[in-house]
Amino acid sequence: MADNANLKDYELALNAVRERTDFVPKVGIVLGSGLGGLADDIEVVTRIPYSELEGFPRSTVEGHKGEYIFGYIDSIPVVLMNGRVHFYEGYPMQKVVLPVRVMALLGVDVIILTNAAGGLNKNFHPGTLMCINDQNTAFVPSPLIGPNDDRLGVRFPDVSAIYDKDLQELLHKTADDLGIELEDGFYLQITGPAYETPNEVAMYAMLGADAVGMSTGCEGVALKHMGMRIMGITCITDMAIVNTTFETSHEEIQKVANRAGKELQRLVKEVVRRI
Ligand code: HPA
Repeated sequence: MADNANLKDYELALNAVRERTDFVPKVGIVLGSGLGGLADDIEVVTRIPYSELEGFPRSTVEGHKGEYIFGYIDSIPVVLMNGRVHFYEGYPMQKVVLPVRVMALLGVDVIILTNAAGGLNKNFHPGTLMCINDQNTAFVPSPLIGPNDDRLGVRFPDVSAIYDKDLQELLHKTADDLGIELEDGFYLQITGPAYETPNEVAMYAMLGADAVGMSTGCEGVALKHMGMRIMGITCITDMAIVNTTFETSHEEIQKVANRAGKELQRLVKEVVRRI
């Protein structure tokens, strides 16, 4: 039988968190690379590094922290994932999605996934914020491969609407009210860690993808499997489609993400108040 994380592993991980806190969050938020500003902008109750939780993967990438932060945005109880782990770090997909699945098991109503990604839509520019309408994970393994635990979700989940339509509308209304420009688009996940070759960029654009990145899609599948309501926001940090002859560097991407991250922070804070 395939070695797959099942509900028991997730329950063990959940218990590891529950030994540290009985906090019950309403909203879970994953902070993508360079988008960690929100972590300093909430009323913190407690922080738990993944490294102190048995069974949790550890983040190995510079600029990616790995901790849960429990706290409040105004009076709304939230849990932040300040950093995530990625498939390219060498963890199997079932392990990559463990921290988000534990957030779902902690009792949140909604999960907001954020990420930094390369732009494929020619109308975008570095700093564009994009509401994720749909995703493509055909280029990465599914986190659902292996025996299915029916208590988590069904064997063959419907993924025709991973990103909740009402939440997309709410996000747009909130962005309008705040005067923040927000595009729509679809996100394509690759394994990384290499950025794209010019030919790969051309192929992803041909498929109609608006943004390409190395995270999020697998989390979307795992959370939809559990029946969660999901909102997704991408921060475009570089134009993969235009700059095919320029180098994309981790440092440059983090700089843009830090700048655009301030807008994203404002948007997420306000949308959480309205959920
Ligand atoms: N490709 C993949 N992931 C990324 C990119 C990119 O161009 N930019 C930021 N994350």
